[in-house]
Amino acid sequence: MRILNFGSMNLDYVYAVEEIVRAGETIRAHSRRIFCGGKGLNQSIALAKAGAPVWHAGLIGNDGDELRAVLEKNGVNTSLIREVPGPSSHTVIQVDRSGQNCILFYADEGLRVTPSYIDQVLASFEPGDFILLQNELDNTAEIMRRAKQRGMKVILNPSPANEMLSSYPLDQVDCFLLNETEGAWLTGEQDPQRVLNRLCETYPHAVIVLTLGEKGSICAADGKAFHQPVCKAKAVDTTAAGDTFTGYFLAGWLKGEEFPVVLERASRAAAIAVSRPGAADSIPLLAEVEAGME
Ligand code: RIB
Repeated sequence: MRILNFGSMNLDYVYAVEEIVRAGETIRAHSRRIFCGGKGLNQSIALAKAGAPVWHAGLIGNDGDELRAVLEKNGVNTSLIREVPGPSSHTVIQVDRSGQNCILFYADEGLRVTPSYIDQVLASFEPGDFILLQNELDNTAEIMRRAKQRGMKVILNPSPANEMLSSYPLDQVDCFLLNETEGAWLTGEQDPQRVLNRLCETYPHAVIVLTLGEKGSICAADGKAFHQPVCKAKAVDTTAAGDTFTGYFLAGWLKGEEFPVVLERASRAAAIAVSRPGAADSIPLLAEVEAGME
């Protein structure tokens, strides 16, 4: 069994600000740092740090050597990544004094994945292999359909939540990992329990993992539900906390570990990520996460 993550790789321009800028306002940032990020890249690195074998696919621009290098350095297989003319996708991220962020994401038209590239990537995988997807690439619906036709199991982190999600064949998803905002988008419900119930009713064969911020996380599968309280941390930068949780959860689950163990490890990993600046750089090693576990 192998894991393919077909996902974004962004250069994150991170500005430390007192408060996140409001419409019509101009503010001065305290600092600017450039990090490797992208929900796809972060999740591949979290998977690899948690000990899973992971192949990353996606497009980088001519300025993307660092993105490929950070994946390689962390043990991700990068042989399926393709370089295209033009710049890589990038973000402008503001992080305020409480560690909360807001993210502006941009990808050039040249970074649109084509059907022939999708087929070329999927040709390396077999029925029973897993594909992990987020919502930052164009053509994610097509990747999902073709992967399913190939007999792969589809894992979706529908982040960021936006109108593109309504075009996805969500009935083909085997596992959803999502937060309350994304859950509200998919179900039209606001209350977390109603979000969970609705997802379980609509996708009865899928594993549903819902993160609830301060209220922890819940995993529902085969008619059972498991709750994990949040692991407390002093927030420095919340960027990539969700990606860290996703990677650590999947690495444990796909290894066959029990849901309570996997949820606890993922929560601890996310808490460590929150206490550090940056995206990929903030993701802890497995040994750091397990240091505090019994
Ligand atoms: O989830 C965090 C990521 O979202 C950042 O690294 C940024 O690139 C955005 O895609």
